[in-house]
Amino acid sequence: MLDRPAKERLLNQRGCVVWLYGLSGSGKSTLANHLERRLHDEGLLVKLLDGDKVRGGLNRNLGFSNADRFENIRRVAEVAKLFCDTGVITLAAFITPTRRLRRLAREIVGEEDFIETYVKCPFETCAQRDVKGLYAKAQEGDITQFTGKDSAFEEPEGKTPDIVIDTQTETEDESLERLHQ
Ligand code: ADX
Repeated sequence: MLDRPAKERLLNQRGCVVWLYGLSGSGKSTLANHLERRLHDEGLLVKLLDGDKVRGGLNRNLGFSNADRFENIRRVAEVAKLFCDTGVITLAAFITPTRRLRRLAREIVGEEDFIETYVKCPFETCAQRDVKGLYAKAQEGDITQFTGKDSAFEEPEGKTPDIVIDTQTETEDESLERLHQ
C-alpha cells in the first residue's frame, strides 16, 4: 500500500491543515485565497476548502443550528484529513465558532498536522464591511442564528490558536507574510 510519505516524496512537500477561523467577513476566505495562490506559485499543491462553497455542495443539507455546525465541521475536518494524508497543503476557512468545534477539528486532523489560525476582527468591523450584506439581513431579522449576534462566537483562550491574524490592524500583505512564515 502506498503510504503518506510516498505521496509527500512525490509532491516534494509535507501535508498539513491550516485551519482559518473567525467571524463571517473577518477575512478568512480572502487570506486563504491569496495564500493558496502564493503557495501554488512556489510550486506547492494546495487545496482550499471554504464554508460558502462546501455548504453549496457536500454540506448543502446543513444549516446553522449548533448540531448542523458540528456536523459541518466534522465532515470538513475529515475531508481536510484525507487531503492532508495525500500530502496536500490544505487550507480550511470556516467560522468554527466554538472552542469545542476547534477541538473537534484538531482531534480529527491530528495535533501534528493542524495549524490553528484565528482571523481576528471585531463584530462591529465585520458588520461595517458587510461584504455579503449578511449583517444587514441579520439586523433586519431576515437571517437567524447569525454568528456573533444570536449564535455564539467564542474567542480563543489558553495556548490556542497557533497563529492570530488581526485583520483590523494588519495590512493584508502583513497578514499573508506572517501566515506564510
Ligand atoms: S460554521 O459556523 O459552520 O463554521 P461556515 O464557515 O461553514 O460556518 O459558513 C459560514 C458562511 O455561511 C458565512 O460566511 C456566511 O456567508 C454564510 N451564512 C449564512 N447564514 C449564516 C449564519 N446564520 N451565521 C453565519 N454564517 C452564515
